[in-house]
Amino acid sequence: MTKEQFSSPRLTASTDDFYLGDGGREELVAALNELLEAERAGAKVALASTKAAGDDFASLMRQVRDDEAHWCAMLDRQIRRLGGTPSPVTGAFHAKALAIADPLERLAFLNRGQGWVVRKLDELLPRVRDDALRADLQAMADGHRANIAIAAAFGGNEASGQLSAK
Ligand SMILES: [Fe+2]
Repeated sequence: MTKEQFSSPRLTASTDDFYLGDGGREELVAALNELLEAERAGAKVALASTKAAGDDFASLMRQVRDDEAHWCAMLDRQIRRLGGTPSPVTGAFHAKALAIADPLERLAFLNRGQGWVVRKLDELLPRVRDDALRADLQAMADGHRANIAIAAAFGGNEASGQLSAK
């Protein structure tokens, strides 16, 4: 989190109606930006993977890409709503995933990253006070769980990835 990402005077308020964490809204924006960077990486990995294998696999990757792009847009909107600046960074997960040539191994790695996102959301949700943000983040967690199950059924077992998902 850089200073530039966090410039609104509204964010310096000591009491906060959005978030229960010690770091207040700044901590919340940082957590949302970390998720945004991960989702942008996931969208790019899925897009790159649409060309890697057969029709069913490409269709699954297009669905994942569309979902990741949807969550990027949601996080961008919520970060702006909080007075923060959306990070332009793509998570390091992107380069790590594209270094894996085998489509199913890459899918397993992608699913491991999706599992990381779910864990982050599950940690964050109890601390979010704002109803609209909580509803968006809950939908993101639910959507990720559904996609993890679909990808695991396809052969991308979340537990089989050996590399760091971050
Ligand atoms: Fe994701």
